[in-house]
Amino acid sequence: MSLKNISPVSTAAWQKLKDHYYKIKDTHIMSWFEDDTERATKMTVNWNDFLVDFSKNRVNDTTWQLLLELAQELDLKDAIDKYFGGDIINETEGRAVLHTALRAAEDAQVYVDGLDVIPEIQAVKEKINSFSESIINGAHKGFSGKPIDTIVNIGIGGSDLGPAMVVDSLSYYQNHLKTYFVSNVDGDHVSEILKKLNPETTLFVIVSKTFTTQETISNASTIRSWFLKSASQEDVAKHFVAVSTNIAKVKEFGIAEDNIFPMWDWVGGRFSLWSAVGLSISLSVGYENFDQLLEGAREMDEHFKDASFDKNIPVLAALLSVWYNNFFGAESQAVIPYSQYLSQFATYLQQGIMESNGKGVDRAGNPLTYQSGTIIWGEPGSNSQHAFFQLIHQGTKLIPADFIGFKYSLHGNKDHHDKLMSNFFAQTEALLKGKNSDEVSSEMTGKKDADRILPYKIFSGNRPTTTYLIDQLTPKSLGKLIAMYEHKIFVEGVIWNIFSYDQFGVELGKQLAGSILEEFEAGKILKSHDPSTSQLLKSYINS
Ligand code: F6P
Repeated sequence: MSLKNISPVSTAAWQKLKDHYYKIKDTHIMSWFEDDTERATKMTVNWNDFLVDFSKNRVNDTTWQLLLELAQELDLKDAIDKYFGGDIINETEGRAVLHTALRAAEDAQVYVDGLDVIPEIQAVKEKINSFSESIINGAHKGFSGKPIDTIVNIGIGGSDLGPAMVVDSLSYYQNHLKTYFVSNVDGDHVSEILKKLNPETTLFVIVSKTFTTQETISNASTIRSWFLKSASQEDVAKHFVAVSTNIAKVKEFGIAEDNIFPMWDWVGGRFSLWSAVGLSISLSVGYENFDQLLEGAREMDEHFKDASFDKNIPVLAALLSVWYNNFFGAESQAVIPYSQYLSQFATYLQQGIMESNGKGVDRAGNPLTYQSGTIIWGEPGSNSQHAFFQLIHQGTKLIPADFIGFKYSLHGNKDHHDKLMSNFFAQTEALLKGKNSDEVSSEMTGKKDADRILPYKIFSGNRPTTTYLIDQLTPKSLGKLIAMYEHKIFVEGVIWNIFSYDQFGVELGKQLAGSILEEFEAGKILKSHDPSTSQLLKSYINS
């Protein structure tokens, strides 16, 4: 069955939230802390090794109650059941959305078109496990008899961002293999990577759900030609494997059936790292760690399915996001991990969040009359404090931010970790409390130009943050964190009454690029273009 089609703006809760917004929009969060000494504990969810503190947000008890009413009126519970149950909730592409099945328990049963998909998933996992083991332990040899020491993942979008982010985030757990990612069709990207490679000892993992993506097929073809300069066609089998749903196209490319790791059309590209798309993760950190990542995601799936909405981390995070997006008019949200390991986390989330919920038409086919989607961005702290934090603290825009930090560092340098975490806590406190004119003026007493400078030194505070305090960055906790954002995306899509799992918005540019490429091949302009594009194309063609 499909998702229900209920416009959020038609609900009673939406109207109540609008009225409520006008009542509380200027209230300072600090005044709520003063009125309610229990606020911090009441608005915190302690789950597993996660402590999620929502209390530094522009919400009071009534806000939560109304947001939860909104979830009830839109029948979020029914949507969650359909999501996990394999219903065709990706209606515009006629598919189920079952990345959750990829991390389900071995004895679970998940049906697609009447067929339990768990046995096929287990079979692919076993293949990932044994292949990873043979590469890591050196049993699998390259064409000259040497063990593999380097992995190159060739893919783009979901076939790159997820594995690249996880491999980087888990680099503490990385084994002796070196891992590179080639994604951009920019030939300089692949050329720079090729400079570092030895064809005798490199394994190429071509990842493309469709196996038709221009960037990936171009990079894979360039790499294969480079490889064949030192090796023969029969050697390709020892050095190239593919992950795809399009078995025919992979074979056409010259990859043997044995070297294909299948995936399924019910796994969306941007949610696919849990499938064989994560092969480079398993190769880089070992299958056990890959399995732990999946286990963490499964625990978050269970929490999301079973916890009551008022204690449900992804539900509360999504409701807050809607609150800021649709009532406060916030355009963007920042994700600031206080871990250098998570430096690619926001980049990864950009695809998941913006490709999913950057939609302008509702589930009835009508243009939206309200905002959907959020612009997501971020960089690790403390670096970002010295970059864009000025705007978050004192700028004119409202930027709700997620702060993600860990109690224990991985290398155990307590001195550094305390400094890092002191910044982590200080920033959310500063964003909350700000600094008023009395505090500024007492600091500036006797200083030259004190009165003139005073307004520039005031911090209004009341800038919302959610704190995710997690014990330690492990494969398991990372799995939980990623799955949390996946479910947040789902809940937001349900509330906005949109289809989150297609991505037609990426098609038009691809089509136009295809026809412009034909014009380059012809050496002249063949089609009609707008005047600006015509002028630019002429300049490029004549260069
Ligand atoms: O950018 C569009 C998109 O279809 C993404 O959704 C997907 O992750 C990416 O291209 C790569 O697609 P494929 O895995 O089929 O090469």
